[in-house]
Amino acid sequence: MTTTKRAASEIADLGDKITSLAKRRGFVFPSSEIYGGAASTWDFGPLGVELKNNVKRAWWRAMVQLREDVVGLDAAILMHPRVWEASGHVENFIEPLVDCRSCKRRYRLDELPDGERLVEGWRTGDVDLSGTACPSCGERQLTLPRRFNLMFKTFVGPVEDSASVAWLRPETAQGIYVDFESVQQATRRRPPFGIAQVGKAFRNEITPRYFTFRTREFEQMEIEFFVHPDQAAAAFERWMEERRRWYEGLGIPSDRLRFRVHAPSELAHYAKRAVDIEFQYPFGWKELEGIHDRGDWDLRRHGEYSGKDLSYYDDLTKERFVPHVVETSGGADRGTYAFLLAAYDEEPDKEGVRTVLRFHPDLAPYKVAVLPLSKNERLTPLAREVWALVRPHFMTTYDETQAIGRRYRRQDEIGTPYCVTIDFDSLEDRAVTIRDRDTMSQVRVPIAELAERLRERLGPC
Ligand code: GAP
Repeated sequence: MTTTKRAASEIADLGDKITSLAKRRGFVFPSSEIYGGAASTWDFGPLGVELKNNVKRAWWRAMVQLREDVVGLDAAILMHPRVWEASGHVENFIEPLVDCRSCKRRYRLDELPDGERLVEGWRTGDVDLSGTACPSCGERQLTLPRRFNLMFKTFVGPVEDSASVAWLRPETAQGIYVDFESVQQATRRRPPFGIAQVGKAFRNEITPRYFTFRTREFEQMEIEFFVHPDQAAAAFERWMEERRRWYEGLGIPSDRLRFRVHAPSELAHYAKRAVDIEFQYPFGWKELEGIHDRGDWDLRRHGEYSGKDLSYYDDLTKERFVPHVVETSGGADRGTYAFLLAAYDEEPDKEGVRTVLRFHPDLAPYKVAVLPLSKNERLTPLAREVWALVRPHFMTTYDETQAIGRRYRRQDEIGTPYCVTIDFDSLEDRAVTIRDRDTMSQVRVPIAELAERLRERLGPC
């Protein structure tokens, strides 16, 4: 796994390289491309769906399977409309939107020069844009900010009236809060414990951009961790470290991750405290995951709006309290992009440059590629026999076209950790060669032991 430091200029170039590789090799395509695309929406191709599934699977394994204190949930996307009033999203999930009267470009207020100060002014009702030039045309003709709710609205049933309004969830978290009591009682948990969920979320972003970094439809991997109010501060620190370690453990170099503390003026309406885990993307340091102390905001509000008491009575301490929530909220698409960027490497070789995606084996789309030395008809039956042997154990691929060196390069470029080569000696000795993506070293093993030898190298992926 590479952890070599990269120069800022090298990182800036990576964006184009990854977008092009992602399309060429079937990781990520622009959606609806034959119709000219659908503004910043993306489809995950055959390799992309494997990679993103592996990211989500690795998260679930580390955050649910291997922990004693977190259980899972898969709540519905469409929820009762009152959920979004209680959560504060109808009133507060707002971006200030500014138009240029001259060139018609549209901006979020924070994208304008000195945006942070402007947003602060907007929050306190004191914003003046008369001196601000449009970043695109330079004219000082910006409108005053308009309030724009980022939630997608739809209607349930055939009638489009106010009684049938539904919202596409902008975060998965609310499903966890409204099911808090059911999960707690069904699993007989007492705080501290967490509920984890992976699922789609939707935001009508004003300026979606940067590949899968900011899109209108995306997936989140969220844990809402319920604690006694006195334990929230310590839990927050633990989760910050826990989450950073997870990214590092899957191959993101520590020097490309950092924490950024939110200023009070930028806190979401539900947050008492927030820290972002930022990643060094080609367009700068940006949020990869958010850690929030949501206090008792959500359970208290749902209690008030639903009329159902969501406090918890602790039999041992004889205390009743509304649990506080420490939330970790990562994006699966944003994370997948970060893992792609971090894995990308180029090194000189005799043919020019070897491009390698140095994925952690748990994330690699294919774990093993089976390659007969050539497309010779004597080799094909044994090669296919070997492929059938390893297929039940790992996600694999088979490739027999072009020279073997070219095929190794093709697998390196998509991050396959091991190639298994079948040559003419294999017909005699029933042994094959395992070639390592990172070291390019080769070792010969009996076919009878192949699955076991690969398992030793790949671990429980
Ligand atoms: N429940 C808390 C919450 O949703 P957030 O900071 O707004 O917090 C959490 O979002 C994570 O979701 C972000 O760190 C990011 O990874 C992902 N995310 C948010 N908006 C996104 C978008 N428009 N496109 C892709 N990912 C997004």
